[in-house]
Amino acid sequence: MKTINIAIDGPAGAGKSTIAKMVSKELGYIYVDTGALYRTIALYITENAIPDDEIAASLEKADVSLRFIDGVQRVFLGDRDVSDLIRTPEISMAASRTSAIPAVRAYLFDTQQKIARENNVLMDGRDIGTVVLPDADVKIFLTASAEERANRRYKELAEKPDCPTYQEILDDIIKRDYQDMHRETAPLKQADDAVLVDTTKLDLEGSAAAIVKIIKDKLQ
Ligand code: DC
Repeated sequence: MKTINIAIDGPAGAGKSTIAKMVSKELGYIYVDTGALYRTIALYITENAIPDDEIAASLEKADVSLRFIDGVQRVFLGDRDVSDLIRTPEISMAASRTSAIPAVRAYLFDTQQKIARENNVLMDGRDIGTVVLPDADVKIFLTASAEERANRRYKELAEKPDCPTYQEILDDIIKRDYQDMHRETAPLKQADDAVLVDTTKLDLEGSAAAIVKIIKDKLQ
């Protein structure tokens, strides 16, 4: 049976994962966060201090897998659940660098396609509509201004110790956007047939509702 595949791409901090989770719950699809796969490879490389010229050969040993526990994605390195460990600023930056390596993208390509072949999915990333699922039933490109994305991240982190300044967060977002958009392999860009959703002036509920409507209209 053909599965339904929804691709959601966009820059860091546009609210993709929170919004995609809300939408997938409403539609009853599995939510796949592909950034977690790149982050896990980055963690593997960092923990094992693998030099650049050995990364491609080391991937076979990495043993990265996604498991869905009560419908919620967890990411594993071997038997170790690293879902929380991969959420540091250090791994964010390392993942952006790691994801520019063609061998890493090729290694994760099959994992992502297999999940989409076997399940109704809402998959979020940077190249889902352009490379991983070019035949996705619906493609969304979700974005917001860099300032608004930094603002949201700052509010999220404000309560925590060692919170970076707004300017540090904004600089980090601009740097990651640049890296993600200018890499040679599968750069972040809107697919020709993707619908653009700009959430700069929308709250989470408004963004999720807009996307659910786009999906329902397209699948009719
Ligand atoms: O969505 P995120 O911030 O967790 O993604 C981490 C990094 O991985 C980000 O810098 C871009 C990269 N990435 C990618 O290149 N392709 C994807 N499909 C998902 C993420």
